[in-house]
Amino acid sequence: MSLFFLAKRFVAGEEFEAAIPAIRRLNEKGIHVTVNRLGEHVKDQTAAKRAKQEYLAVLDHIKRARVDSNVSIKPTQIGMDIGDDFCYQTIAPVVAKAADYGNFIRLDMEGSPYTQRTLDLFYRLYENYQNVGVVLQAYLYRSVTDAEALNRVTARVRLCKGAYKEPASIAYQKMDDIRRAYLQLAKSLITDGHYPGIATHDDLLIEAVKRFVADQSISHDRFEFQMLYGIRPEAQEQLVQQGYHMRVYVPYGPEWLPYFYRRLRERKENVWFVLKNLFKK
Ligand code: FDA
Repeated sequence: MSLFFLAKRFVAGEEFEAAIPAIRRLNEKGIHVTVNRLGEHVKDQTAAKRAKQEYLAVLDHIKRARVDSNVSIKPTQIGMDIGDDFCYQTIAPVVAKAADYGNFIRLDMEGSPYTQRTLDLFYRLYENYQNVGVVLQAYLYRSVTDAEALNRVTARVRLCKGAYKEPASIAYQKMDDIRRAYLQLAKSLITDGHYPGIATHDDLLIEAVKRFVADQSISHDRFEFQMLYGIRPEAQEQLVQQGYHMRVYVPYGPEWLPYFYRRLRERKENVWFVLKNLFKK
């Protein structure tokens, strides 16, 4: 028996078609979506090329189903562990097709061994395609300089805290420090950047960003909030009702287990939610 029913609060389906109703439900609430086919650290060319074909098909599905969704891709899912050139050659046709369709591709950011390589991949793609964006992690000290460089070329950046275990030599460890860095970066991206995604479920940060844009009379159209599928859905709707743009990251795919474990590890309430569902079955 598939254990997928346990994960379905956080993962929209095992195939893209199964995720479409969830995307539609979000769209009907005025929420934009970015979809991600779960998977990472692909080691052979066949699997990376398969991921490319899947993303090409996803772009067709999005167009056909007329849902409001762009696409997020992890570089190691599409060949970064095989080689930087290979990765570029694999992802470029996906970005090109998205450009034809008026869609947008976001490169997710993985652990620090990939930071510079992902930024290099982004800049290389950005020379030819404007419909591509990248992610910065507030816990990394280097993100201040990276944000300045990305702002100079008006790149679209998603800002998150960072989900990987990084050493103190390169990353803040304490939540207070990470929050301070996050807020400083958010202000810089909103003021000097191009439609950043402020990705967090953290009320302290969300409220601070709301205060900042109100004080500076910055239009709500200059940025969007982003959250993960199934996490704080009521807060997602509330932000839309307050007139902010909101995008939800909707993962799907048969390789849902590592992502699901990450969500459980993050928060004990998530475990409780899953247990309740288990006993409801
Ligand atoms: P965090 O887990 O730090 O919690 C802080 C506070 O938020 C809590 O104390 C509570 O107040 C509130 N909160 C959180 N969850 C709640 C819940 N379920 N209910 C009620 N309150 C809650 N990382 C990465 O390294 N690379 C990437 O590309 C991305 N991409 C990405 C996209 C999007 C859209 C999001 C939202 C996040 C990412 N991340 C990511 C993950 C990110 O780096 C980070 O690990 C998580 O978002 C957790 O940090 P938060 O700031 O969201 O809340």
